[in-house]
Amino acid sequence: MTIEIENLSISFGDRQVVKGVTFQVAQGTSFGIVGESGSGKSTVLRAMAGLNTDWSGRIAFSGEAAPLKRPPAFFRKVQMVFQDPYGSLHPRQTIDRILSELPLVHGMKDIDSRIAKVLSAVALPQSARFRFPHQLSGGQRQRVAIARALIADPQVLLLDEPTSALDVSVQAEILNLLADLRVERNLTYVMVSHNLSVIAHLCSHVGVMIDGHMVEQVTAEDLRLGQVEHPHTRELRSLSVELEEPA
Ligand SMILES: Nc1ncnc2c1ncn2[C@@H]1O[C@H](COP(=O)(O)OP(=O)(O)OP(=O)(O)O)[C@@H](O)[C@H]1O
Ligand SMILES: [Mg+2]
Repeated sequence: MTIEIENLSISFGDRQVVKGVTFQVAQGTSFGIVGESGSGKSTVLRAMAGLNTDWSGRIAFSGEAAPLKRPPAFFRKVQMVFQDPYGSLHPRQTIDRILSELPLVHGMKDIDSRIAKVLSAVALPQSARFRFPHQLSGGQRQRVAIARALIADPQVLLLDEPTSALDVSVQAEILNLLADLRVERNLTYVMVSHNLSVIAHLCSHVGVMIDGHMVEQVTAEDLRLGQVEHPHTRELRSLSVELEEPA
């Protein structure tokens, strides 16, 4: 699905935290959003996901403007994955129950086989199915969160810091999984991260936010080569040592 965000503004009370943000994401690509804490990244994503209904501007998927209140069918197509896989999974529900929820809401008939398939798609053992979240590792929990997002065959994933709660060694595994799933399933991603090297790994285009504005958009290639204009982008880049050119 193509995504178009035009002049998106979002306020909490009389405080405007997203200020006229515009960007487009081509079908099957990944767009990254970086920026300092509090710059409005999650707020943009939540409005796109239909979780915040207090926005103005235009949010369109496949050329179709999304209404403030999304119809249930929307949540089959667009799913969000949150930063903290423990907080986002209900602690008293088994993985089976967690994964069944969306298919049940949409009256799907093949729930059993969907769960089996999606567990294998995210490389979790079938035995994980009847465990509780606390019986899994952090990386496994994030795989469950990704499986939950994938179970109804969405076309767009909105990923909010999907690896930042994980150990460094597990981060790369989850990023590789997300990269593979995008290609296999022809998904379109918008991903928020503090970490430019994470974004460069997964995204072809990157938007940089400061204080509610998207101040610059560059390709990941430009980012690697240091061909950026805004001082803030330079600063973020200099903080991500992994991006530095080999000597
Ligand atoms: N539900 C809310 N009510 C009031 N203010 C909010 C709410 N959610 C976010 N904000 C404010 O909006 C601003 C942007 O928050 P947001 O969570 O989008 O930032 P962020 O870029 O995702 O930051 P971080 O990198 O720390 O996750 C912040 O000043 C935050 O305090
Ligand atoms: Mg955030």
